[in-house]
Amino acid sequence: MSEEINRRDAMGLALGTCAAVGGVFALAGMKKAWDPLPSVKAAGTTTVDLSNAQENVLYTETWRGKPVFIIKKNEEMIKKSSPNDRAREIDINGDKYVMFVALCTHLGCIPAYNSEPKDFFCACHGATYDVSGINVSGPAPLPMLIPAFKVDGTTLIIGEESEAYKKIVANGMDGSKPLDKKA
Ligand code: FES
Repeated sequence: MSEEINRRDAMGLALGTCAAVGGVFALAGMKKAWDPLPSVKAAGTTTVDLSNAQENVLYTETWRGKPVFIIKKNEEMIKKSSPNDRAREIDINGDKYVMFVALCTHLGCIPAYNSEPKDFFCACHGATYDVSGINVSGPAPLPMLIPAFKVDGTTLIIGEESEAYKKIVANGMDGSKPLDKKA
């Protein structure tokens, strides 16, 4: 009888250990998904290492006290991009990204990202934006602002000007002017 109980105890212990180990691995996997990208802030710039960025995942960085959204586009997003979307794209090591200050251009709330159907919604007064941060409906007058940036390999430096950023500004696509939303 006591041998039977000991065997049951041993099996229970083994199962418990497996469950605990499995739980630890599951938590480790989840933590990995929650971890922000490695970034460094210095002298008005934020440097973000995008070498491990996942497609269609919203990353939020802070630049000069403001939230900045970064998303690596997937195939579907690239295929569905309008000319205006493409004009706001950032090429980082051959991958296409969107990046902008995450403040609604109506009164400055932080819009939420819907990974399906891939757009932004501002709950304050109902403005919507497409995945590139272009205002689509509601009271927002402008696209969300693309800050100065520079790309170095898989690193994005927010707050430093580059030719790619100047081109976006010269084309009026940085969010400082209203866009023709049909383009
Ligand atoms: Fe976003 Fe008003 S602050 S809709």
